[in-house]
Amino acid sequence: MSKIVKVIIPIISFIVFFTLLPKLELNQVQSINTKPSYSILIPANIQSILDKSCIGCHSSDSKNFKGKMKLNLDHFTDGKYSKGKLIAKLRGMAKVLTKKSMPPKKFRAKYPDKVLTAQENSVLLDWVKVQGHDLMTK
Ligand code: HEC
Repeated sequence: MSKIVKVIIPIISFIVFFTLLPKLELNQVQSINTKPSYSILIPANIQSILDKSCIGCHSSDSKNFKGKMKLNLDHFTDGKYSKGKLIAKLRGMAKVLTKKSMPPKKFRAKYPDKVLTAQENSVLLDWVKVQGHDLMTK
């Protein structure tokens, strides 16, 4: 291959890429807007576990900015999380529940009554796993 081809091909690809990119992004935005929104039905027993130990930091009303940015449980039911986001958030929950790292250590020390019991932890963990799996097969 001549030197010219080696130089010209990358330049052309570069130009094509950057002229197509804005159009691709526009299409993606449009398809996101027309996508159906997903929401999860939270049964009462799960809701009460979340209310007790998670919702204080992981809802739109929370003053814990970092907590609600990472996980906003209101978006499970209001359709504001995309399908992919929901799956990712459920996976994140499964992770922290497996590690037993939520609520955070400091919070657990301060509010021992809000610590998840072993039973609650496993009920919630089973539920998030099933929800994640259901969404993936939808
Ligand atoms: C006292 C506030 C508080 C409570 C209560 C709390 N969290 Fe969190 N959570 C946080 C904060 C703050 C972060 C962000 C931590 C970070 O980025 O270091 C977080 C992060 C997370 C994440 C994302 C982890 C990651 O790395 O992306 C998940 C999932 C999560 N929490 C689940 C839960 C669940 C489930 C409960 C209830 C069992 C819960 N949290 C209770 C404050 C809280």
